[in-house]
Order: sequence, then structure tokens, then C-alpha cells
Amino acid sequence: MPYRCSRCDKQAIANIKYARLRLCREHLTTYIEKKVESILRKYKVLETTRRIVLAVSGGKDSMAMTWVLWRLSQRYPIKLLVTNIDLGIDGYSRRSSEIVRKYSQELGIDYIIVKLEDLLAYNIKSLSRLARRSTCSMCGVVKRYLLNLIALESKADYVALGHNLDDILAYSLKSFLSGDYISLVKFTPITKSIDGIAVGRLRPFYKVYEKEALLLALTNKVPFIVDECPLRPESSIEFHIKSFLNSIEEEKPGIKIQWINNLEKSLRDIQRNLDVGENLRVYKCSYCGLLSKSNICSFCNTTKRVLGRPLGAELRETIKRIIMVKNSPSI
Ligand code: AMP
Ligand code: FES
Ligand code: ZN
Ligand code: ZN
Repeated sequence: MPYRCSRCDKQAIANIKYARLRLCREHLTTYIEKKVESILRKYKVLETTRRIVLAVSGGKDSMAMTWVLWRLSQRYPIKLLVTNIDLGIDGYSRRSSEIVRKYSQELGIDYIIVKLEDLLAYNIKSLSRLARRSTCSMCGVVKRYLLNLIALESKADYVALGHNLDDILAYSLKSFLSGDYISLVKFTPITKSIDGIAVGRLRPFYKVYEKEALLLALTNKVPFIVDECPLRPESSIEFHIKSFLNSIEEEKPGIKIQWINNLEKSLRDIQRNLDVGENLRVYKCSYCGLLSKSNICSFCNTTKRVLGRPLGAELRETIKRIIMVKNSPSI
């Protein structure tokens, strides 16, 4: 039997067990939008930010995030720049970039699509083969580096990532189980910029369940690429952790949101007690000058080893030119 929405007379399309709510399309959208708005307001992002680079892969999370931030950009003075990195993965990257391009045009958001092969003359598969690294870890290095460069050069205050609540719990539990406690500190909704070398990160979907992001995209006709990246391992650790967390949520609705709230609070307390720069060392890459875990960043290190020279600084010049051309008035 169809149920009524808890907030109006319309038919409910979603049963949000942990909040004891059944919601119609409209109220589901408002419910999720409010979650995003409230986390961004809590960290004073909407009032103090000028420009946000949106990292958009074409998948459901980052596409739904684009839609929500676009709606918020009509009420707050924030400028958005959608960014997609075409990694050259068979047909998958081309289709993803096309969805991102079309949707940005439809919403009237500025966008930039960069192709790895145009920048380095290699796609992600051949680069990782040469570097003897797994494609996913190489892909992480390249994406982080490029997103930071694009954000620095376009003078953005933040890079927004599409990670949802389930992703963050899975990554943080994986870090915890593998003893990588240092990485845990970064799983906050927001990280600060470090002047001139790293742009801060935002996770607007920090409190949004994966299922909610999917429903938001489907009910608001947000296009997205359904297939996963073909180079991802079939059953990753994150996949197993997510299934495990979902089975607990099934028995104890709300446990995931409770855990993410606790994680956020504990990390805020830890961050307050840590003065980055004194207790945690911030390194600058000696080749490109950007944030690094040691005195050479992973990107310069890999390109030096594999392609014969560190390419960070050159890549920065290329990105600077791309952004300059993009911003110059057309003739
Ligand atoms: P992943 O690490 O692949 O799960 O992706 C996490 C987030 O990184 C996504 O939600 C996007 O915000 C961003 N992202 C992933 N792939 C790309 C891409 N090819 N271009 C731009 N952003 C990306
Ligand atoms: Fe990075 Fe597939 S998206 S390896
Ligand atoms: Zn309703
Ligand atoms: Zn470097």
C-alpha cells in the first residue's frame, strides 16, 4: 500500500528509517539539500567563499553534488567551476566527460575538462604500467595533483569532492584497520587551504547516505554514468566494509549517521589541538613547490622516475595557460 509523505499529503517515494520519515520527491530533495546547506554553513563556507572547484567524475555522487551546489549558488554569492579529468580509460572517460560537459552547459556552470593524454602524452593505464603502480593509486596521485593545480590557478577557495557518508566511513575504517591513524585526521567535512601550496577540500555530502545521493539524482533527473570505472578491482576492501556497515545499519537504523557525527566531532577536537605547521610538518615539493608528504611530491617523483624529469612545474604552466585562455573574453 502506498504511504503518505510525513510532511505533506503526497505519496512517499522514500522511507528514511533512521529519521523515521517517509518523504515525497519534493520533501526528500529539501531534506537532503538542508543537510548539505547546514554542513556548509556550520563551517562558514557559504558566506565566506568566492569560488569552488567541483571535482566531477560523472558518477551519481559528484553529479548530484553539482546539482545541489548549483541550487545553493542561486542563493549564496559562490562561483562554481566544474572540473573533470579525462584519464583516457577506454570508452568510459569519454562518456563521463561528455555527461559532465553537457550537464554543466545545461545548468550554465563554468567548466573545464582536461585530458591526461594531452598533458602528459600518456593515459592512466600506460602511465601506471610504466610506474609499476596499481592504476587506482596512480589515478589518485594524478587526480589530486591536477585538481589542486586547477584550484590554485583559478584562485578557488575549495575543491569540493563527491564523497558520501558511506565512502567516508569506509575509508576511515580502512585507515583505522590498517593502522594508518595519521590519514584518519583528513576525513573531516572540510580541510583548510595552505597558502599558495594547497587548496582546501570540502565534502558537501559528508552526512548524505549513498542511497540518498542516488535517489536525489534519480528524482531530480540529474544525468550520471551508471557503470563503475572498468579499471577498479572487482571487490575492493572499501566494497566489503560498505556491505558490512550496511548490514549493521539494517539492524540498527541510524548507526552510520551516529558514527559519522562522532567522527566529525572527534576530528574537530583533534584538529583544534593540532597546530598544523608545528606538530604536523608541512613539506613543499622541491621541484614544483606544492604540498607534499616529503621533500618531493608523488607526482614529481613518479614523472621523474618514469618520464625522465619531474613534470609538476611544467604542468602548472600548462594549466595556467588553459585557465587564462578560458577566462579571456572571446573575440
Ligand atoms: P573516487 O576516489 O574515484 O571515488 O572519487 C572521489 C571523488 O573524486 C568523486 O566524488 C569526485 O568528486 C572526484 N573525482 C573522481 N574522479 C574524477 C575525475 N575523473 N574528474 C574529476 N573529479 C573526479
Ligand atoms: Fe581511477 Fe578508475 S577512476 S582507476
Ligand atoms: Zn511531501
Ligand atoms: Zn612536485
